[in-house]
Amino acid sequence: MAEETLPGARRGWKSIEEETDYWIPEADVIGKIPKDLHGTLLRNGPGVNSVYGTQLKHPIDGDGMVCALSFVDGRVHFRSRFVSTQSRRDESRAGALIYPGQMGTRRERGIVALACDAFLTFVRGPTSQMFEYRNPSNTSVFYWGGKILTTYETSLPHCLDPYTLTTLGPDDLGGKLRLGVMAAHFRFDTLQKPIKLCCFGIQPHLTRPADIHFYEFDDKWNCVNVEHSVEGLNYAHDFLLLPHYYVVHMTPFVKVTMSQAWKWKLGLSSPGEDMKYYPDLPSRFVFIPRPNHPDPRAAIISVDADPFHIFHFGTGYQQGSDVFFTAVCLGRQFNMTFDEQIALSNISIAPGRVYKFHVNLSTRTCVGLQADSASVEFPTVNPYRHGQKSGQYSYLMANDRKNENLPYRDVVKFDFYGLQRQVWSSHGVIGEPVFAPRNTFVRSSSSDDDDGYVLVQLYDPAVHRTEFVVLDARRVNDGPIARIRLKHHIPYGFHGSFTSECFVRPLPRPGILDTAATLFLSAKL
Ligand SMILES: [Fe+2]
Repeated sequence: MAEETLPGARRGWKSIEEETDYWIPEADVIGKIPKDLHGTLLRNGPGVNSVYGTQLKHPIDGDGMVCALSFVDGRVHFRSRFVSTQSRRDESRAGALIYPGQMGTRRERGIVALACDAFLTFVRGPTSQMFEYRNPSNTSVFYWGGKILTTYETSLPHCLDPYTLTTLGPDDLGGKLRLGVMAAHFRFDTLQKPIKLCCFGIQPHLTRPADIHFYEFDDKWNCVNVEHSVEGLNYAHDFLLLPHYYVVHMTPFVKVTMSQAWKWKLGLSSPGEDMKYYPDLPSRFVFIPRPNHPDPRAAIISVDADPFHIFHFGTGYQQGSDVFFTAVCLGRQFNMTFDEQIALSNISIAPGRVYKFHVNLSTRTCVGLQADSASVEFPTVNPYRHGQKSGQYSYLMANDRKNENLPYRDVVKFDFYGLQRQVWSSHGVIGEPVFAPRNTFVRSSSSDDDDGYVLVQLYDPAVHRTEFVVLDARRVNDGPIARIRLKHHIPYGFHGSFTSECFVRPLPRPGILDTAATLFLSAKL
């Protein structure tokens, strides 16, 4: 039981109302911040676990709070702001929860209100907009082309001012997001010059196959996109980027039917609560040709796989007809129960495991084998090695301890080629590790996949405080080279990213008069 192994871990989801903006005192940094770590760690996650007295059923329903940790000349600045979404503003005015959550959070309603809802649903049909789900914009955050964007996979992203984290509003990226949605996960394609931001959105339908659109943006937001409808593809959270294909997993854990739509509309269930194994649904990898595919007539390729659910992919590459990649797989018992009120899914029963896959596109065959023993999720990789054979390392949020699956306490560095596995066992509960290249990716060569730092948000239940940890990506075993301790906690987060851009001014260096005054005061004391 989690409470026995790490008392107080549940408090890591506790709400925080304050938005903060300060330089971290040097006294709160243990170790030394590397001078070649320059840029901004961005993280997103729910800032609250209740809304005006209504307890959230699941953290995924919580309003997004973005944190920016800026590294400037060996000093660190911290800033946090809530994403000011329409649902958050409306509920602020009302002083009550208005919008239900996709994971099952809803207002308690009397029998009369339920009857009215049922009648309106019957009249309008289950696809009507009788109510909207909340858009907490809490799942990921990244910087590209002058914008900070926060995401939630069933809604438009929100654009933030990079310098203040003030919310500027929903952003359809110049009208390109025609489906009105953008998934949380994106990839950089560094094989193209200039490099491209690749992202996607998926929209399921009750009466026809889902639409899935992929976009490739340059840093001026010029876009090349492809649009498909794929039978049986009800959901996709992440994708693998190969030089000529996007790869998504067709999960047997998400069903979209008329009867479910009725239940969701009536508040009897929700998409998150209905996420479970449906034996009648296929499990397949779907290879969708990119706009640069050498064969303009190339078609979508689907390859059957064993039944599991995949949220996240790791590294991958293609060699001829053979594609090799990693992913975190969840077994048939997986569902989205808020396990022990700590984990986002029932990982005490159905932990995530790293699998290595080999798909042959000619024979349409797939072999997948478990490749690591730890309980894991949220694999991150060097963001500038997607789809390349030189991208071999994944850094995983893990529990690598005997007879434990949760909470996540360890960082596992997984090597696709099996040459080195490293683990750092932390003193708290960790979030997603984020890879920050040393200096910038421009200087990288093909053999420096792990030349950089792994940045980890860590909650210490013993003192109810959050810290950020800097690991040398080549020496994860050695533990932190720096610990940056906040004076407060911030709730466990979801996804983040690192940009070499900085949006705070460096602290002024002490002038000669300041130095003389300090020496004088020191002498007097
Ligand atoms: Fe994710």
